[in-house]
Amino acid sequence: MDNQFKLLQERLLEELAKVKTMNELHETKALFLGKKSPIQELFARMKDLSIEEKKTLGQKVNWFKNYVEEAIAKKAEALEQAQIIAQLESEAIDVSLAGIAFSLGNKHPLTKMTEEIEDIFIGMGYAIAEGPEVELDLYNFEMLNLPKGHPAREMQDSFYIDGNTLLRTHTSPVQVRTLLAAKQQPVKIICPGKVYRRDYDDATHSHQFMQIEGLVVDRGITMSDLKGTLTVLMQKMFGSSLEVRFRPSFFPFTEPSVEVDVTCFKCKGHGCSLCKNGGWIEVLGAGMVHPQVLKMSGYDPNEFQGFAFGIGIERLTMLRYGIDDIRHFYTDDLRFLKQF
Ligand code: DAH
Repeated sequence: MDNQFKLLQERLLEELAKVKTMNELHETKALFLGKKSPIQELFARMKDLSIEEKKTLGQKVNWFKNYVEEAIAKKAEALEQAQIIAQLESEAIDVSLAGIAFSLGNKHPLTKMTEEIEDIFIGMGYAIAEGPEVELDLYNFEMLNLPKGHPAREMQDSFYIDGNTLLRTHTSPVQVRTLLAAKQQPVKIICPGKVYRRDYDDATHSHQFMQIEGLVVDRGITMSDLKGTLTVLMQKMFGSSLEVRFRPSFFPFTEPSVEVDVTCFKCKGHGCSLCKNGGWIEVLGAGMVHPQVLKMSGYDPNEFQGFAFGIGIERLTMLRYGIDDIRHFYTDDLRFLKQF
């Protein structure tokens, strides 16, 4: 009898080892505990046995029943576990998969140039001012000593919105706005921004371009402050061996006015195509703030003096990198833009 149980136990383990699904497990359970199972046969035979024999056999049958049930329960648990693992594996996201690479852009050459100039001026204690691109004729021209009908307005053909408003033709109106806001206090600002002129677009002209305006107004400001400041700016940008030259010029809002040249950085002053054999390159306009401009913004020219300058950012960037056409800046060609 004991031997019989041992064989049953071995068969059970063998069968369970083959089971792969819950259905198969149910079948195995029926095989060992169901109506036609050896256990039921043993039960059926019990009625012919003595009380003693019934007792011992009963205990064994019960033990075997429990054994089968436990083994089945354990297998059921193992099957469930395996199913969960299989599901997790099938639903897993492979985070190691290579993603889509985003290529990082770089700053536009005009932005780089602007930021570089800003840094130099911030280092000299300047604040950065801003003004609107749609500007009053009053600030763009009149309060810069360019009254209506003044012939010098011709130098800056303009886009008018109406009789009193236009797209600013230069960043100089920010001088007026800054002075009015400062209310007779000293000012020291630069103002980078876009400006507009009714120009035909060609290799060196664009209807929209960028400038950086500079303005210092205080007591005791002289032409040597202007020269020193602009020389420092140019040498920081193009190297300390560079020479700076100031030529008399005319702007209605400065007196005296100057045009600032630097030694040609391509030929070092010997003469080449870039400097048209002159050895010098014109980089910006500047001057001492006209007493009339100071007066119109509420400053007493006997007490306050100032200097101002206007830098063309495109022009400076073209000179620095040897760019031959201003339109490269605006056509968004990555082959051009990626070089900076
Ligand atoms: N606003 C002038 C222009 O666009 C440039 C300029 C010249 C600005 C002299 C100044 C200056 O502040 O002093 O042509």
